[in-house]
Amino acid sequence: MKAYIWSLPTRVFHMMFAAFILAAIISGDEDNLLNIHASLGYAIGILVIYRIIWGFIGPQYSRFSDFPLSMKELKEFASNIFNHKKYAGHNPAASFVMLSMLIVVVLTVATGVLTYGIQEGRGLLGFLNTPYFKEMDLFEEVHEFFSTLLLVLIAAHLGGVAFDRLIDKKTDTLGSIVNGHKNIEASSVTLNWFQKLFSLFALVLAAGVLFYSLFFNSVLTKSSYNEISYEKEHPAFVAECASCHTLYPPHLLSRESWSKVMDTLDDHFGDDASLDDTTRLSIKEYLLKNSAESSSKESAFYILKSLKENEDIIAVTQTSYWKARHQGIDKNIFSSNEIKSKANCKACHSDIEKGLIEDSNIKIPKTGA
Ligand code: HEC
Ligand code: HEC
Repeated sequence: MKAYIWSLPTRVFHMMFAAFILAAIISGDEDNLLNIHASLGYAIGILVIYRIIWGFIGPQYSRFSDFPLSMKELKEFASNIFNHKKYAGHNPAASFVMLSMLIVVVLTVATGVLTYGIQEGRGLLGFLNTPYFKEMDLFEEVHEFFSTLLLVLIAAHLGGVAFDRLIDKKTDTLGSIVNGHKNIEASSVTLNWFQKLFSLFALVLAAGVLFYSLFFNSVLTKSSYNEISYEKEHPAFVAECASCHTLYPPHLLSRESWSKVMDTLDDHFGDDASLDDTTRLSIKEYLLKNSAESSSKESAFYILKSLKENEDIIAVTQTSYWKARHQGIDKNIFSSNEIKSKANCKACHSDIEKGLIEDSNIKIPKTGA
């Protein structure tokens, strides 16, 4: 006998949830995909809220009250694993994994939005960057912890599906993901118009938010940092310090490092960059005032941390932070004709001379190397 177990909205939810989470996992590792990652996060957030509500107002087998979540049932299920009682909806093991997954997804999305706001100054919680930037490490670690836990649960989920397929092909649980039907003795579900309308609204909303966030610059991904016009703020800084190389934003070095740079211009990385004292002191004052200590940006925070390990450093490219962020880039790319030196930051960071180093603006140019 065939029974209709998973209604269309449940199945569409499942497909979207799986696809968005997969894409979020892939995009999570790449800095320049951060906006895509965050957009997926919002959409997953809507999906998970929908699924939780669906767990209360959905059809029978989708309801949490239908999940066999008692220890007794789990024990019985485990001890008869090869010949367990048939469940039309989720079996006890699957129910525990599903519920854990939903909870962990909520926590992953929540800590993701927090990290995006606190570390990057972006998105709905971008305003939390200024007050909490000193905790950016902590939030990132907690977000990574939950996403790792989610990976473990996904593995358990897939393992369960594979195992079920091995021991019980007849019920066709795998097929029910696509067509909703299981070969099982059970009552079929039907949806009322409210359930249909609510699902349509929620699932379209999730897809719509993803699209909107990906293609429009909105509060969902907007940076809370403004471009800085150094030309306006300090024309001499631009005139004197951008002629031989990229204009380094002041927040990329500490007060101490800038002091050393500005007090040794006559022997500046092998060049003579000396200035008259009035100009030199004025630029120095500007750099000290806007140094890493006075910034809540991610780069400033981590550069300061690196400089604490070695206080003699006066080059951004010598900090352990800079090295770590660029270690994946082939050395030949830096020495290529198009880039020439690793100090030529603007070749890859088109916004750096406006005081921003946004992940979405990182682009390594094509080189002959
Ligand atoms: C006459 C050319 C010249 C001028 C003018 C000049 N620099 Fe430099 N600067 C260099 C060279 C050459 C390097 C080494 C870059 C490299 O590694 O390729 C350098 C490196 C730097 C670095 C370290 C970059 C890194 O590797 O992280 C900083 C910081 C810096 N300069 C700041 C300044 C400031 C501030 C001014 C303005 C007061 C200035 N420079 C003016 C030639 C110049
Ligand atoms: C050849 C291209 C290239 C050059 C030149 C380059 N970068 Fe980068 N930079 C990258 C790439 C690619 C990343 C992202 C790496 C990753 O995915 O973690 C990056 C990441 C960064 C980050 C971390 C951004 C973040 O928010 O996580 C900072 C800060 C940074 N670069 C600063 C600089 C500075 C300062 C210079 C010049 C002294 C420089 N870069 C030169 C390619 C370059």
